[in-house]
Amino acid sequence: MKLIDLRSDTVTKPTPAMRRAMMDAEVGDDVYGEDPTMNLLQERAAEIFEKEAALFVPTGSMGNQIAVKLHTRPGAEVVIEERGHIYNYEMAAMSAISGALARPVKSADGSGLLEWGDIEAAIHANDAPYYVAPTKLIALENSHNLAGGAVMTRERTEELCAQAHRLGIPVHLDGARIFNAAVSLNESVAALARPADSVMFCLSKGLGAPIGSMLLGTKDFINEARAWRKLLGGGMRQAGVIAAAALVALEESPARLADDHRNARRLAEGLAEIEGVEVDLRRVITNIVIFDVAETNLDANTVCAELQKRGVLASAFSQRRIRMVTHYDVSRDDIDRALAALQSVIEERRAQSGSEERGATISAQ
Ligand SMILES: Cc1ncc(COP(=O)(O)O)c(C=O)c1O
Repeated sequence: MKLIDLRSDTVTKPTPAMRRAMMDAEVGDDVYGEDPTMNLLQERAAEIFEKEAALFVPTGSMGNQIAVKLHTRPGAEVVIEERGHIYNYEMAAMSAISGALARPVKSADGSGLLEWGDIEAAIHANDAPYYVAPTKLIALENSHNLAGGAVMTRERTEELCAQAHRLGIPVHLDGARIFNAAVSLNESVAALARPADSVMFCLSKGLGAPIGSMLLGTKDFINEARAWRKLLGGGMRQAGVIAAAALVALEESPARLADDHRNARRLAEGLAEIEGVEVDLRRVITNIVIFDVAETNLDANTVCAELQKRGVLASAFSQRRIRMVTHYDVSRDDIDRALAALQSVIEERRAQSGSEERGATISAQ
């Protein structure tokens, strides 16, 4: 039985075209800047994003953390939405590497998408009194993973960046899934990234490359980032082998992300029909579906364990919430099978509690 892996879009395996490209890749020593395939990938990424320069990094976390390092100094604060990946899922690297402190803020409407009002209240401008840490960076995320793949429009990004720049504060964009955001908003990734001072995007998620992310910004910023990548142990030698797969991902994968979004929509609509499952359909915009199982009387871990027995993998996000992510290894049929599996988990539970209740009534008599 095929395992349907909805835990994340990071589980995608390289396509045959990627594997062929890896096999045939021309390579050199990338620490010397001599890997032609890597150089091509970096030039191509910079061109697509209309930024001066790009740097390949082994992981999105490294790309984000190098950006935090370069934009801040020890003792500085970084304003970030409270569910932001940089703050929640990167091992407190912001404090360990940069000596910076996260200032998490809530989005007033609960969507995860900050408005200037949400950010402004948390900012300590440079002329703040000596006892508060100055805000040196605002970190945005598009699409927003923990907020269910919510997307920030170009207009909102422009507005937030313009306001930040007015105060002399740079903006880093965690665009791990910016191609998903761009497809869903019908914008180019360049337009979504333009107002940000730096942007990171992942090749290894919905785009399907086996390894890697890119950090983009000005030439000076990327030159410094290259030194920090080396310092962190991320300088690789014949990295063209992985850049070759990444180039295929960059050129070919964005066009098919809309399929993942359609599958996520179908999944969410199916979930909404299952008794006891709650999903906010308005929030399912890209390839991430987060739903609540509290009303099924099962906790999220139990549901995931039961799903696994039926060949479906999902991630428990909290006691009651589960995340499922669509990607190119998940077909429309797989979505239907996943829905049927969840339905059977819940029905089995209901049947069990029904017989337990009957048993209790009998023994009470
Ligand atoms: C929004 C976001 N940013 C950054 C990352 C980090 O990427 P990596 O796992 O390559 O370090 C992830 C990974 O899931 C993510 O979802």
